[in-house]
Amino acid sequence: MSGLWDSWLRERAALRAERGTERFDPVLRLGGRGAATRDALDLASNDYLGLSRDDRVVAAAHDALDRYGASATASRLVTGTLPVHRDLEAALCRLTGHPSALAFSTGYAANLGVLTALSGRGSEILLDAHAHASLHDAARMSRVAHATFAHNDPSDLDRELGARPGRRVVVAVESIYSVLGDAAPLPALLEVCRRHDALLVVDEAHGIGVAGEGRGLVHELGLVGADDLVVTLTLSKALGSQGGAVLGSTTVRNHLVNTARPFIFDTGLAPAAAAAAAAAADVVLDDPSLAATVRANARVIATVCGIAQAAGAVQSLPMPSPDAAVAACLDLRAQGVLVGCFRPPSVPDGVSRLRVTARADLTGDDLLQAARLVARAARAHAERGDDEAVEGPRAGDAPSPVRGLPTVAAVEGAQDPASSSPLTQIPPHDTDG
Ligand SMILES: Cc1ncc(COP(=O)(O)O)c(C=O)c1O
Repeated sequence: MSGLWDSWLRERAALRAERGTERFDPVLRLGGRGAATRDALDLASNDYLGLSRDDRVVAAAHDALDRYGASATASRLVTGTLPVHRDLEAALCRLTGHPSALAFSTGYAANLGVLTALSGRGSEILLDAHAHASLHDAARMSRVAHATFAHNDPSDLDRELGARPGRRVVVAVESIYSVLGDAAPLPALLEVCRRHDALLVVDEAHGIGVAGEGRGLVHELGLVGADDLVVTLTLSKALGSQGGAVLGSTTVRNHLVNTARPFIFDTGLAPAAAAAAAAAADVVLDDPSLAATVRANARVIATVCGIAQAAGAVQSLPMPSPDAAVAACLDLRAQGVLVGCFRPPSVPDGVSRLRVTARADLTGDDLLQAARLVARAARAHAERGDDEAVEGPRAGDAPSPVRGLPTVAAVEGAQDPASSSPLTQIPPHDTDG
């Protein structure tokens, strides 16, 4: 590498180190299913319903691998559309109630596809200020004027739309926001959009599988079928797979097939991922108790941690500083509990938080013990106010393993070798050794 590039890369790395914003991608989950799992106390992932390891979902993926091989082998418009993509799109329509679905290779690509394809010359995009990075990136990629309106504020949206008379405006929001965990006032937002002839795009990444008996918040609120509303999904959270989708009218689907570059110029979703997501969608539809369980588990976490329950699976515990949040995360990891960490610049309001994900497949004592450990670690590091509680790397959502961390007091029984709790089976997740 030339001196120019080497010195630039070193400079950027030094700046990240100085600001404490370095990110790492440590291996924290070692695999294994069922009783042998070592990931039983993973409260950091997005596998809200535990479907990524569900027998029916895994079997469907195996079957698709046997039938179609490992890859779609081409973009969807060439030879990459397989029966399994049609099956997936039909399953997503059954689950959400929308007439039409188009699968993308990720939820990120679905958001890029929908906003770029629905905007275009003479249009503008308005985003909720807390909208996911993929929606912001989509707005940039659309190369049209874009702006934000105040989070979950229909009056501000009304003002912003009123300032754009005669414009064709796409408004993009999430149904449930992952950081603050609040739900969008979708009926009020849709009503405002209608008055201004705007199109509302709702990202149900955190709503599907959790709200509306698993069918999403749009379904729960009776908004399915509106032709001025388009929904996007990720298949990689509650549906336990990988991929994304856009749901809406057949007209919108046809438009995307013809104009959405992240659909046209991208290899089709891998068959195993498509089949797994289709099976997961059917499981969610057939068993509304899964969504009820994840919400009940979220209530346990919120209650034990003394916070208001968020609308989705992710519960957020505010921390006084990024360092305190990272220290609490690392401390919990040393005790065998994985939680995530929200820190600036990835938080819309600048408040660092522990990100604790409820899962439908983690219940009883394990859930209670894990929630107690989280509450104690959060309290201990918040009270300590230790800006430098941990030496070593500080990461974004997933701090890197650090040896020899101090631990807060363990919950009674958590260290009991006779206990069958996974808490006693999981060593500190130190992948260095
Ligand atoms: C709101 C939201 N939209 C889109 C995405 C992207 O989904 P995917 O991971 O499938 O690309 C995410 C993932 O974190 C998300 O939280």
